[in-house]
Amino acid sequence: MQKILVTGGAGYIGSHTVVALLQQGYEPVIVDNFSNSHPRVIDRIEQICNQRPSVVDADLRDTDALASIFQTHEIDAVIHFAGLKAVGESVTDPVRYYENNVQGALQLIKVMSQHGCHRLVFSSSATVYGNATRMPINEQAPLQATNPYGWTKLMIEQILRDLCVADPAWRVALLRYFNPVAAHQSGLIGEDPNGIPNNLVPFVAQVAVGRRDHVAVFGGDYDTHDGTGVRDYIHVLDLADAHLSALRALDGLDGCRAFNIGTGNGHSVLDVIRAFSQACGQDIPYQVVDRRPGDVATSYADVSRSQSELAWQAKFDLAQMMQDHWRWQSQNPQGYGSD
Ligand code: NAD
Ligand code: UFG
Repeated sequence: MQKILVTGGAGYIGSHTVVALLQQGYEPVIVDNFSNSHPRVIDRIEQICNQRPSVVDADLRDTDALASIFQTHEIDAVIHFAGLKAVGESVTDPVRYYENNVQGALQLIKVMSQHGCHRLVFSSSATVYGNATRMPINEQAPLQATNPYGWTKLMIEQILRDLCVADPAWRVALLRYFNPVAAHQSGLIGEDPNGIPNNLVPFVAQVAVGRRDHVAVFGGDYDTHDGTGVRDYIHVLDLADAHLSALRALDGLDGCRAFNIGTGNGHSVLDVIRAFSQACGQDIPYQVVDRRPGDVATSYADVSRSQSELAWQAKFDLAQMMQDHWRWQSQNPQGYGSD
């Protein structure tokens, strides 16, 4: 049994990873300030696993609260999800993003060091590849940020690389997620965005459930098979599983190592709308509008490094992702506020 501190463990990806940890015999300890999650998620995790994870309601930047977690629990490794993630909001309020994400990561690393814990899995993002043009994208592609959110991920990655050079005791996996979607197959936990969803699949799901009229398809004139943007969508259960593989691989890493976490396949906006329509048994109305500023035509991962070094591979296809996303949305039309 290993104790794993999961920062942001009440969030979308964190909650699914906590379920996977509990189911595989780990003992997760969640620290979350619930700034972008609902306390009910903890009851739902308990319902799925018949076991309630330990939860500390605290901000990552509260060093005393963090230190007291390490004093109370013998933490073997940390999975660091906690962070703000809305690209548009990061452009209008950059200071909040740098403070929360970069400051939060620094405080975490300091407290880990003080308590002799040097194993970390960090939630990075394909956003660190900026406007990559060569597909599939491998981990050696040039790194660049196109917005403050992306800069926070790049900066934290750099801090962690520097840390591993300075102190060889550290073992860090940087997991660069492509486009996480779907939900646990129980329909009990899933993504519950605040306000109007920024991302495609949550938006499509809210149209399907009648909360919005139609999907605006951002651009129909890209150089792709049907003119709409292509992305590498990955089931959140596969993503959760990648964290367990990364934990197992940590001790064998030489310091800090980045891994792409995707399926390696690209699907267009219209492919997604079609697959979701099939999953929910109704046509999803959509309208093609102008491109969204800052979007690239195509982004999908070269996943060979994760396959060979983490012994991990995505299992779920787009049809399964949409079915599982629909089950969550239809059972919880208003998200965690449904009942
Ligand atoms: P989420 O918002 O659902 O989860 C993040 C959790 O962190 C939330 O529960 C929030 O309350 C908590 N949190 C934020 N700041 C905190 C702080 N200072 N102290 C304590 N708790 C704090 O997001 P998610 O989709 O689960 O994403 C998890 C991580 O993965 C994030 O770092 C995000 O940037 C990264 N990521 C997400 C995606 C995506 O599309 N969902 C893609 C790439 C990378
Ligand atoms: N799209 C629409 N209509 C919508 C929303 C999105 O047509 O209402 C399109 C976009 O133009 C894009 C595709 O659907 O072609 C996917 O868009 P998302 O917003 O779902 O995802 P992105 O690839 O733009 O962004 C995601 C994460 C970011 C991260 C980025 C790069 O949300 O946090 O991947 O990794 F920075």
